[in-house]
Amino acid sequence: MDDIGPQGKRVVVTGGGGFVGHHLVDALAAYNDVTVLDDFSNGRRERLPEGVTVHEGDVCDPEAVTRAVEGADVVFHEAAVVSVERSVEDPEATHAVNVDATLSVLSAARKADARVVFASSAAVYGTPEHVPVAETAPKEPVSPYGLEKLSADHYCRLFAELYGVETVALRYFNVYGPGQSKGPYSGVITAFVDQARGGGPVTVQGDGEQTRDFVHVSDVVRANLLAATTEHVGEAFNIGTGRAVPVRRLAEVVRDSVDPSVDIQTGAARAGDVRHSRADITKARGRLGYEPTVDLEEGIRTVVET
Ligand code: UD1
Repeated sequence: MDDIGPQGKRVVVTGGGGFVGHHLVDALAAYNDVTVLDDFSNGRRERLPEGVTVHEGDVCDPEAVTRAVEGADVVFHEAAVVSVERSVEDPEATHAVNVDATLSVLSAARKADARVVFASSAAVYGTPEHVPVAETAPKEPVSPYGLEKLSADHYCRLFAELYGVETVALRYFNVYGPGQSKGPYSGVITAFVDQARGGGPVTVQGDGEQTRDFVHVSDVVRANLLAATTEHVGEAFNIGTGRAVPVRRLAEVVRDSVDPSVDIQTGAARAGDVRHSRADITKARGRLGYEPTVDLEEGIRTVVET
């Protein structure tokens, strides 16, 4: 990724100790002066490379945000509570992190004259009427999390329109890769690898015919680097692969690459589960020059090997 993204800049990554954040920091650190703002409630300090300036602080503290963003050229805002379930249990808490803190980041970037690349989500679309989903599709979130990401995504556009802040919102589809947190809120690929490693069974929720667009974290990093230098600001872009994978097929691919002898079990479907989700990435291709590069088998190997 040497040939794309910012070089010789002061960049800030909020949530830089987190899953997407730390991969992004790795990609930026060789050519830029990187500052991470993270409270390490979920992220991990020890996986940050040497030479990175760490501000241990809460993204919900506007002063901590202002201090971190001062003098920056680009802010990658990855800090968030990424759990749909958490947002249903405690919407006030997730709103504070996912919306209020984004507003602080945008305000600080406005003062610093910095660009903001924001980690938005496919959750803004709720249950899509049609797949693939284009950026112009209806946005009817079905969780506080989706509504929070949609509010923050709109704030990015408004800050570009009202104040001339250069913002880009990237609507991530199902991101996976090494270093994703484990446990009840982990993505299905991380969960399946863990289950297979533990001897199984691999647990498919529902009939397994539901589909997702799984995008490898290295492609998400690439999209962020492109967003940092694009002239198309004030815009939102879908970041996926444009391909749909049924969850049952995913279970088989994971099982075959970890341990072909483990069982695949089918259980109850998750309440409110989205049936089909797949990104239309025409806009990101055309305007950012984004092209996903990691296919599913190869991507799963990167998770299994870590
Ligand atoms: C994901 C994101 C969420 C985002 C949403 C946007 C994660 C963890 N969640 O939710 O933040 O808002 O996309 O569309 O990245 N499944 C199983 N067995 C398991 C675990 C999951 O069958 O052990 C199934 C689920 O029921 C679901 C599918 O796998 O049908 C994907 O689940 P998950 O990885 O949690 O992602 P989303 O629900 O799509």
